[in-house]
Amino acid sequence: MKYKLEPASLSECQSDLACVFVYANEKVADVFKDADPAFARRAKAFIDTLGLHVSEDGFKGKAGQVLTLPTFGNLDVRRITLIGLGEGKDFGTSQARKAAANLVRRLPGDSFQGSISFYFRHASPAKVAAKKGGAAAAKPRTKTAAPVKTGSAAMDSEIAQAIVEGIHLAAYAFKKYKSQKNGDNKKEKSPQSLSFSGLSLSAKALSDACLKGAAIAESTNFARRLIAEPPCFMTPSKLAEEARSVAKEFGLTIKVFDAREIERMSMGSFLGVARGAKEPPKFIVISYDVAKSKRKVAIVGKGITFDSGGLSLKPAQSMEHMKYDMSGAAAVIATMRVVGKFKPNFSVMAVIAATENMPGDNALHPGDVITAMNGKTIEVNNTDAEGRLILADALTYAVKHGADELIDIATLTGAVVTALGRVAAGIMGSDQDLVSKLIDSGAGAGEKLWQLPLYEEYAETLKSDIADLKNAGARGEAGSASAAMFLKEFTGGKPWAHLDIAGPGWLDRDREECNKGGTGFGVRTLCRYLVG
Ligand code: BES
Ligand code: MN
Ligand code: ZN
Repeated sequence: MKYKLEPASLSECQSDLACVFVYANEKVADVFKDADPAFARRAKAFIDTLGLHVSEDGFKGKAGQVLTLPTFGNLDVRRITLIGLGEGKDFGTSQARKAAANLVRRLPGDSFQGSISFYFRHASPAKVAAKKGGAAAAKPRTKTAAPVKTGSAAMDSEIAQAIVEGIHLAAYAFKKYKSQKNGDNKKEKSPQSLSFSGLSLSAKALSDACLKGAAIAESTNFARRLIAEPPCFMTPSKLAEEARSVAKEFGLTIKVFDAREIERMSMGSFLGVARGAKEPPKFIVISYDVAKSKRKVAIVGKGITFDSGGLSLKPAQSMEHMKYDMSGAAAVIATMRVVGKFKPNFSVMAVIAATENMPGDNALHPGDVITAMNGKTIEVNNTDAEGRLILADALTYAVKHGADELIDIATLTGAVVTALGRVAAGIMGSDQDLVSKLIDSGAGAGEKLWQLPLYEEYAETLKSDIADLKNAGARGEAGSASAAMFLKEFTGGKPWAHLDIAGPGWLDRDREECNKGGTGFGVRTLCRYLVG
């Protein structure tokens, strides 16, 4: 796709479609006055007719509303799409991303193949305030809020990036297993070119922002594809193969350890989980190394390609979507694509423990005691609490290999879904600065992270009578925090944050820029944290 700047007036627009943002209850005439004053004067009758149509249609500029109108020869551009922003007083990246996603969802496929222009209107906040004058201008009102006009180059490039993200994310579709590849199943929708008009950006700054947005969204879609694959296909071996091709394409180093090597590294905790499965486990490490860097961030992903619960078997309903239990692994592999492309000035290491959790005849028994790589002994009182067992050794590996900052990401607990639903991930950690930075990165990237406390008392439920600790705490009591307290035992005192993405990692229906199914949650947050 091509990205470019366009002349700032609608009358000069040569695209197939012009998109104009509209706040709640704005008058169409005012929208045109801002977008192209000369045209507004010249084509008053036409614009009044449009205004009638818009109100007939019930378009009120609400968030999520999208209305496409023909221009009947009054403009070169044949169609204008009004995109509702709702009460826009705090228009920002999240709103821009969602608006672009709504556009993709509402436009019929054929109008989405050509060129699209986005019009940012020119009334600056100051100008709007002056027009309204005095006290009224001071308090933000829907109508007077600067119509999407951002102003600073930094903000404008964020907006452009978010729009590109929204478009690519909402256009995602997984059609691999549909036998009828016609109509809607043919291919993902994608416009030929996007242009932006009215942003205070150089062509170079615009293209940088768009390319970053596209890379992040495409990586998220890459993660979604890994998750969407059925578990019979996306085995630990296949996941390792995918990681290998990412490393090759993006110039990263990779090491894949097989069961024998995993055993030689004394990862008794990870191997314990793998024992019940026929599919061989893989331990995957992808590295981006900066020679003289003092900083090395490890991103650690849970790669359970299917979670049956093991002998502590899940009921059928809870097992249905458990192919998405490798969403953390998918997120870190996808993030490495962006790391390889945008090359931060510090080292990044992705660590993935990949296995199925199955109740095979060699499976862990509830009551077994295993020894983790760091020497701690674990009584396995519930084989369904397997995520923490495999992450324990992955974290230890990262610490042993020089990580001085640890971020793990995992579909770890059902408890976090109960607490936060599918809206936000839980975040916990030992280093408030790291946790706060990740929350901020998430906010900018359009992913919600909500911090849960790690009170020392939560560790008490993990005390075992016969081993150093047990893997499952008291049922129904702060399950997400006790899981995190378990992980903390394996972080070697390094600054550490843990993202529990069990909720937003999977959606049962499309929601704004996220399609139903595996969402690739976390890719955007990690990318923003690592490459800005
Ligand atoms: N993969 C699950 C967590 C999960 C649950 C993810 C629902 C997505 C949706 C994890 O391995 C698990 O089974 N956790 C148990 C822990 C318990 C046995 C202590 C849980 O949450 O029930
Ligand atoms: Mn489980
Ligand atoms: Zn699991």
